[in-house]
Amino acid sequence: AAVELGPYRHYMQKEIFEQPRAVADTLDDVMSIMPELFGDGAYGAFKQIDRILILACGTSYYAGMTAKYWIESIARIPVSVEIASEYRYRDSVPNPKTLVVTISQSGETADTLAALKHAQSLGMLETLTICNVSTSAMVRACRYNFITRAGVEVGVASTKAFTTQLTALFLLTLAVAQAQGRLSEEDEAMHVRAMRHLPVAIGAVVALEPQIIAWSEQFAKHENALFLGRGMHFPIAMEGALKLKEISYIHAEAYPAGELKHGPLALVTDEMPVVTIAPNDALLEKLKSNMQEVRARGGQLYVFADVDTRIQAEQGLHVIRMPEHYGYLSPILHVIPLQLLAYHTACARGTDVDKPRNLAKSVTVE
Ligand code: G6P
Repeated sequence: AAVELGPYRHYMQKEIFEQPRAVADTLDDVMSIMPELFGDGAYGAFKQIDRILILACGTSYYAGMTAKYWIESIARIPVSVEIASEYRYRDSVPNPKTLVVTISQSGETADTLAALKHAQSLGMLETLTICNVSTSAMVRACRYNFITRAGVEVGVASTKAFTTQLTALFLLTLAVAQAQGRLSEEDEAMHVRAMRHLPVAIGAVVALEPQIIAWSEQFAKHENALFLGRGMHFPIAMEGALKLKEISYIHAEAYPAGELKHGPLALVTDEMPVVTIAPNDALLEKLKSNMQEVRARGGQLYVFADVDTRIQAEQGLHVIRMPEHYGYLSPILHVIPLQLLAYHTACARGTDVDKPRNLAKSVTVE
C-alpha cells in the first residue's frame, strides 16, 4: 500500500520527522548488549576477529565512516571503510580474521553486493550486514545481520535509514567491544542509557526547523557551499554536503576543518556559505581557529553549535544552538539539521525533492 504523506509536503520531510520513532523501533527488542543481536554464533566471531572491513555506497558509506571512529575508540579494533565500487576492483590484502560489514538501506545495491562477494571469494567468511530490508539479497548473503526498523523510505535522499544505520552500528561497536572483553558493565549501562534517550534528543533537534527555514532562504541563492566538521563529525559534514547536492543541486563539498588551509580556503569569499558542525568536544578550540580562518576571508559561517560551546552569533557568523553535547552519539543529532537545511533549500529552489534528477533510490545495476 502507498505510504501516506499526512501533514507533510514531501516524503523526505516526513521521513526526517519520523526519525525519533525509527530509532526507537530499531532499539525496540534490545534489552541489553550482546553479540547475538546480530545472529547465532556472533559471539565467537566477534571474539576472534582482529580487523573490521566496512563496505557500502552513498549515504550508507558515511554511516560506515562514522562507525570507524566509534569502533576504534571503544572496541579498539582497526577498521577500514571502503566504497564498494572501488574495493571490488582493487587488489587488497585479505585477512581471514576480518569481520566484513556491509551497510545498505535496500540490501540490493549491485556494487555493495559485488564487493561482499569479492571479500568472500578472498576467504573472508565472517560477514554481517546492517540492512533495512529483511528479505533482501544482502541479508541472504551474509552470515549475520541486524535489521534496522526505519520503515519504508520513499525519498531518494536517505534520512531515517541513515540514523537507524548509525544506531545499529553503535550497537555493533558495543557488542564487539563486549566480545573482545573491552566493555565494562558501567560503560555498557551508560551507553545504553544514552541510546535509549536518543528519540527524545532527536525530537528536540527536529524542532529547530523554523530557524533552519530562515537559513535556507539565504542558501538557496548560492551555487556553492562548504561543510566543515572534525573527528567523527567529518563524515556527518560529508553527508550534509551530499544531501545538499542531491536535492538542491547546489555544489557542496565537505572538508575536515583542519584541512581548510591546504586548499579549500582559496574558495572562501563573502559569496561562500560555510556550514560548520561545532560539537562541544575535544577538538572545539581547534575548530574555533578554523572558523577564524574563514571569517578573516569574509566567508559566511553557518554554525550548528552545541549550547555548551558558548559560540555567539556576530557579523558573518550565524549560529543555531543545538542541545548539550551528546558524547559518542552526537553525530546522530548533528546530521538532522543538515538534512533539514538541504530539504528546505531544495524547496526554496523548487526542485523535485523526493525524486531528484538523474538519481535512483536503489542502484541495482553497476
Ligand atoms: C543510492 C541512493 C542513496 C543511497 C545509495 C546506497 O545512490 O540514492 O540514497 O545511499 O544508493 O544505497 P543502499 O540501499 O545500499 O544503502
